[in-house]
Amino acid sequence: MANEYIEKACEQFRALIEEQLARQEKMEMGATPKDFKAMDKIVIGIVGGDGIGPIIMEQAERLLRKVLAEELESGRVELRRIEGLTIENRLALGKAVPEDVLTEIKACDVLLKGPTTTPKGGSLESANVTLRRELDLYANVRPVQVPEEGIDWIFYRENTEGEYVLGSRGVEIPGKLSMDFKVTTEAGTRRIARVAFEYAAANGKDRVAIVTKANIMKKTDGNFTRICHEVAALYPNIKADDWYIDIMTANLVNKDIRNQFQVFVLPNLYGDIITDEAAEIQGGVGTAGSANMGDQYAMFEAIHGSAPRMIEEGLADYANPSSIFKATEMMLRHIGLSQKADKLAAALTECTEKEKRVVVTGFADGATCREFADYVMEKL
Ligand code: IPM
Ligand code: MG
Repeated sequence: MANEYIEKACEQFRALIEEQLARQEKMEMGATPKDFKAMDKIVIGIVGGDGIGPIIMEQAERLLRKVLAEELESGRVELRRIEGLTIENRLALGKAVPEDVLTEIKACDVLLKGPTTTPKGGSLESANVTLRRELDLYANVRPVQVPEEGIDWIFYRENTEGEYVLGSRGVEIPGKLSMDFKVTTEAGTRRIARVAFEYAAANGKDRVAIVTKANIMKKTDGNFTRICHEVAALYPNIKADDWYIDIMTANLVNKDIRNQFQVFVLPNLYGDIITDEAAEIQGGVGTAGSANMGDQYAMFEAIHGSAPRMIEEGLADYANPSSIFKATEMMLRHIGLSQKADKLAAALTECTEKEKRVVVTGFADGATCREFADYVMEKL
């Protein structure tokens, strides 16, 4: 019985290695990033998602329509609603991202996306993970700021490999053992390191923290560290520091030292975990924006999930839209409309940091998502 499993697993393992090698080779050939400034028209796909997704997305779309009034009028920008990326539809079709939805998504240039629910267990893959892979969105960029403490962090999380790339394709001998795989490729690591160091160089940052567990995960994280240092060597004015993820997690709650960190580059799973911690320090996971960037596509989303608890308790209208609003700002910057992004950023800062008049608590004692959006729109 066990032998049969071993045979099957070996076969599967060979196929996985070949597939991952092909992916690395494709990446190695490189790609030319889309130049939004040279484009006559930019199509923004609006994807509602599940749970509180459609509620926060409705408000994000209202903001966008106001900020982009001229561009929408002139036809330079089109907002295109994409339906069907819902848990009901995905479960019914047994597809993480239904084919027709994926085709519509691929016809857009960038996406603004609400959170999508991923069932625990079962075989349905996360829609996020699928989209990151299908659109090759290799850099997950998450800024976190706490101005009164001098914290200005930006996380460059590798977004297409690590534990995620084969997360639904591990092997198991029922009742005995289970194994998942972690993949680090040369080209995959080089490209995330490159964008992190480029960001640092372009934004006057002089330190990049490379965060791994290379003392334990010797192959994957060991090579991740080595490649990051090779890239760092191209940026002599930037200091690259090695950190282990466990102590870095502690450092972020150490008020005496945490404002010294600037740019972080790290493998997928560590990046997933530590960015929630960082967002919490900023004021909660509801407050941080997240960008998934690739050369052809980019997807902007809230850092948090679809909040089923809020739906169950009838609190959905009180969901905090700050995270998706920050993502909206990042998207505007990405497509080359930085003045519009600055305008939205200023309105958000005014509402959340200066005036604190309309506070969304996530409970019925706070403002609703719509009230908060109205308040931001007043400032635009
Ligand atoms: C995130 C989320 C996703 C992840 C989930 C929704 C698949 O936690 O964007 O951080 O694990 O990457
Ligand atoms: Mg996460």
